[in-house]
Amino acid sequence: MSGILVNGLPGESVPATDRAIQYGDGLFETIAVRRGRPELWSAHMARLRKGCERLGIGMPDPAVLLREALQLARGQERAVLKIILSRGSGGRGYRPPDTPSPLRILSLHPWPEWPREFWLKGVATRICATRLGRNGQLAGIKHLNRLEQVLARAEWREPAIAEGLMLDSEGMLVEGTMSNLFLVRDGVLQTPDLSRCGVAGIMREVVLEAAGRRGIPYEITSLRRKDLELAQELFLTNSIIGLWPVRRVGRRDYAAPGSVTSLLQKDVEDTRSRVST
Ligand SMILES: Cc1ncc(COP(=O)(O)O)c(C=O)c1O
Repeated sequence: MSGILVNGLPGESVPATDRAIQYGDGLFETIAVRRGRPELWSAHMARLRKGCERLGIGMPDPAVLLREALQLARGQERAVLKIILSRGSGGRGYRPPDTPSPLRILSLHPWPEWPREFWLKGVATRICATRLGRNGQLAGIKHLNRLEQVLARAEWREPAIAEGLMLDSEGMLVEGTMSNLFLVRDGVLQTPDLSRCGVAGIMREVVLEAAGRRGIPYEITSLRRKDLELAQELFLTNSIIGLWPVRRVGRRDYAAPGSVTSLLQKDVEDTRSRVST
């Protein structure tokens, strides 16, 4: 299964002059597809729009994106849809063109086959040596510059380790290489503040809303490595995995899934099955 649409047309080629290739000048979204429909579509569109505003790229018409997404996803029970939005070609060096024509690439990919135990019993993780740089201008949005994640993910090959946790240049906990991080400490849900770096995940938002509905107190705050020691439960989220409990960080074991994690995992699954498009 696969399929690629470049500006709405089937094909695999983009101009070598495209600024996404030249400079990583663009944005992307990775979206779960279930029963032929993209999940949490409006939330993904809202983040893409925010990224467009931040980078000064024209937001494509979401109705056009949805039509193309549905075209690719037709008949797919489970798949991953990726949307790449580039500023397009042109400009002089780094200087963006005065009248850009953004390029969009939609592609469909097979659903990853992770072991069921990852959801039921939790995942083992490690702490990456690669650090995230701080830059409030790029924080939160899903821009195409992902070299920090690429270097971090290259640090390990053991299949038993599902994810790496990342600190920023000042040693603050930020997120996983491909996921957001949550801690539960004495009944309080905590997740790192992402105002300096990190991707503000769609699934992170789903979890925070679910916590609000359930009356679970939560804080978005500065967290350090030692906070991992003080937490009783940890978990990771993203749009594809949903929620994975964490059973291990390095040599430290956690009860997984903990009770708060289990409640929120159920909420995430309920939201995902209810909310497509
Ligand atoms: C670096 C990073 N942080 C967080 C996330 C989670 O974002 P979302 O919940 O929108 O999938 C991702 C998703 O791929 C990611 O790559």
